[in-house]
Amino acid sequence: MTDTVDIEVAGSTMQGGPSLPQERRLLTAIPGPKSQDLLKRRNAAVAVGVSNVLPVFIAAGGGGVLVDIDGNSLIDMGSGIAVTSVGNAAPELVERVQAQVAAFTHTCFMVTPYEGYIEVCEELARLTPGDHDKRSALFNSGAEAVENAIKVARVATGRTAVIAFEHAYHGRTNLTMALTAKNMPYKHNFGPFASEVYRVPLSYPYRDGRDGATAARDAITKIEKEVGAENIAAMIIEPISGEGGFIVPAQGFLPALVDYCKETGIVFIADEVQSGFCRTGEWFACDHEGIVPDIITTAKGIAGGMPLAAVTGRAELMDAVHKGGLGGTYGGNPVSCAGALGAIETMRKQNLNERAVEIQEIMIPRLREMAAKTDVIGDVRGLGAMIAVELVHPGTKDPNPELTAQVIAYCHQQGVLVLSAGTYGNVLRFLPPLVIPDHLLNEALDIIEQAFLASTA
Ligand SMILES: Cc1ncc(COP(=O)(O)O)c(C=O)c1O
Repeated sequence: MTDTVDIEVAGSTMQGGPSLPQERRLLTAIPGPKSQDLLKRRNAAVAVGVSNVLPVFIAAGGGGVLVDIDGNSLIDMGSGIAVTSVGNAAPELVERVQAQVAAFTHTCFMVTPYEGYIEVCEELARLTPGDHDKRSALFNSGAEAVENAIKVARVATGRTAVIAFEHAYHGRTNLTMALTAKNMPYKHNFGPFASEVYRVPLSYPYRDGRDGATAARDAITKIEKEVGAENIAAMIIEPISGEGGFIVPAQGFLPALVDYCKETGIVFIADEVQSGFCRTGEWFACDHEGIVPDIITTAKGIAGGMPLAAVTGRAELMDAVHKGGLGGTYGGNPVSCAGALGAIETMRKQNLNERAVEIQEIMIPRLREMAAKTDVIGDVRGLGAMIAVELVHPGTKDPNPELTAQVIAYCHQQGVLVLSAGTYGNVLRFLPPLVIPDHLLNEALDIIEQAFLASTA
């Protein structure tokens, strides 16, 4: 069994995975000529609605780099949106996936089961917050996990309303579009949306200046006045909002909401699709304030790039659903389960929680230094390797999406893959693979600093 695969790039052979040279290397303009050719084919064959952040076509990935078909090696500060936390083609994952593919690829767990599915659910019971009796169900995507978490909460409570928050992102299916806050590009013209979703204010310390208790009281007052606890099945929240701009709520906000849900019989759902699995320096972002959700949704980092998602919840809630009420053809596919077990093995072996904290300790001081030198960085925030800066017009808190786009374009031209986020499109978000070496992280920060200098000169 090999850990890595030989790949032909720009006339030479290389291997994907961690043995890929950990360097930034620019051989052509970005995108290079081979990528430009593929882009033409892409535009003739792929729907416009499916867009690309950076149209370089990837041949190999591993550690902290992505290598494109022109031979350019980019520093990856996005992890495919918080997915490849263990790095691309992580050896433990590759080994288990290869073995599983060779054994069998699919039976449908609802038809004939297999052990990998159970092992993943056992890991979820061990790793997710709380030592209560838990059950899990596996799905393909984060949105599907969220949809199913709401189904479970509705059955278990006999209630219908769902509370979601400002700046929330929960997916692109019909119910999850209703839960997602931002119109463009996620919801525009796609309505009508699912009913019985009520949105309340989030704690956004940079913009609202409120402490956690006050922010929670404001949200709860709105809930009480406009919905009524006895009508509410679930409250769903990202402990750190992802697409919304890595907003870390003020301390005490989440615990107060959990207490309120407990008192009123509302199912508290933590959507940890983006923040889960070592990303913030804990197994789950809920762990930072010791909160225990009734249900937690996970995906992305869980399986290092194989499509897998999960709903894990209190046994009495999960088992309230009638037999056959949950499932799907591919949910918990055996190859994806093997990927998850490999990814979790890597997280443990390499202590990636600790590594995420180290990444925070490298990134936050450097970004704060940059903020001190310019008046366009309004806020530097985040936990672990989920770090963001919010860009504003000088001397104000007015969002500056134009500058954000310029900084990102500069980084891309220099071979550093950076993503944006935020309701106002003015947040640079950094989600490096947790296995990125320090020298690449520092080099990426150098380029980001240069991007600020170039864009504000
Ligand atoms: C918090 C959160 N929930 C749900 C989703 C939807 O996940 P998917 O894109 O796998 O459907 C995302 C995706 O970014 C997310 O960040």
